[in-house]
Amino acid sequence: MDKFIIKGGNPLKGTIPISGSKNAALPLMAASLLGDSTSIIKNVPRLKDIYTFNNVIRVVGAQVDFKDDENTLTIDPSNVNHLEAPYDLVRKMRASFYMLGALVGKHGYAKVSLPGGCAWGPRPVDLHLKGMEAMGIDISLEKGYVIAKAEDKIEGGSFKLEPSSVGATVNLLLASVLKAKKFIIKNAAKEPDVVQLCNFLVKMGANIDGIGTDALTIKAVNNLSGIEVSNDPDRIELGTFMIAGAMFPGSELTLTGCNPEQLGNFPDKLRKTGTSVDINGTTINVKAPDVLKPVSIKTEIYPGFPTDLQAQWATMMTQAEGASKVTDTVYFDRFSYVPELVRLGADMDVEKNTVSISGKTPLTGASVMSTDLRASVSLVLAALVAENTSEVLRIYHLDRGYESLEEKLTAVGANIKRVEED
Ligand code: EPU
Repeated sequence: MDKFIIKGGNPLKGTIPISGSKNAALPLMAASLLGDSTSIIKNVPRLKDIYTFNNVIRVVGAQVDFKDDENTLTIDPSNVNHLEAPYDLVRKMRASFYMLGALVGKHGYAKVSLPGGCAWGPRPVDLHLKGMEAMGIDISLEKGYVIAKAEDKIEGGSFKLEPSSVGATVNLLLASVLKAKKFIIKNAAKEPDVVQLCNFLVKMGANIDGIGTDALTIKAVNNLSGIEVSNDPDRIELGTFMIAGAMFPGSELTLTGCNPEQLGNFPDKLRKTGTSVDINGTTINVKAPDVLKPVSIKTEIYPGFPTDLQAQWATMMTQAEGASKVTDTVYFDRFSYVPELVRLGADMDVEKNTVSISGKTPLTGASVMSTDLRASVSLVLAALVAENTSEVLRIYHLDRGYESLEEKLTAVGANIKRVEED
């Protein structure tokens, strides 16, 4: 296991290229299994979750070739014959549950392990299953596995997601595009990852109406062909680096290869802190203010403030002059980073799904660790502004979701080293 040793207190200055999006790539990888021929996906990040999902789709018989030096993934689904995703792989990554929709959608049968818990509490998949049942897919549970069966063509119907869910929307799309005569997903997720998946499926030959809205109507087609596309840039990585550029007086970061339209209301929120955010095509320049103003946020579904950036925002707010609150309405328990930040000197208090922050507090280096991806990156952000040296342990979480994090930060002046944990 590796850890980061970070010596804080340097302003960050320079340019960081934004990588391809993990959460956008995973649905495309699953969708490639619906095709009759090979798909090529470019701009796929070199991340542990991508390698894990490659193994999941290899297990079912697909041929996968990831040229990671070129970030290009080739998936040939023509030999898929083992319609099962085992617990060993699904427990490593919840998105493996997309195999349920992809396999039953194409082959009429799937056996996929239930994903189990998650570091910040229960993350149910009930909507994935109820939506498939509403479509006419037969769902049963057996020894921790979900078994899905469907006739060649099923009637479909409609299903309302309450709450709106990215994963359930993805799974229902994958299950329906070849199977359901007509299926309507109500209150569907509108997140860019879902829009990219819909566009990918349509390019393969699917019939989907209402893309980008919360009502998706799918009418089955008989077959889908493999295609070549470039995956979207990672809007959460981008938001994380925008926060990194805003947190410390003197910092100025230029972020390239971005899709600013996918940031929703995030740039406006960041400007309210006094940060200068200048968007020019696919490049964003962020300049830290001398005095950061406190700004409260509440996470919401897209285009609201993303839950995947709330930990980073709360970390930044420890450096703002005054009081602020961060409320997560998507995941109520996603605050595992708070006690660690308190150990570094932050003044924060969690009540229900809100953390109250009093700033500005100086942070002082210490050993910290976390149990999930976004919490871990927040500890890195805190360590970058802390006095003295910090150790961020268990950084394998970061390797799941941030491509070349230490190289990118070192290039803009951070003092960060990866070493083996003792
Ligand atoms: N929900 C249910 N039942 C379900 C599914 C979801 O009640 O069957 C609830 C969840 O408990 C949550 C809400 O619906 O309260 C939204 O969850 P959603 O299904 O949208 O989340 P997800 O698809 O499991 C994806 C991302 C997460 C991101 C969320 C929200 C991937 C692989 N994961 O998860 O990303 O936080 O959407 O935007 O795309 C991350 O990257 O760090 C990460 C956790």
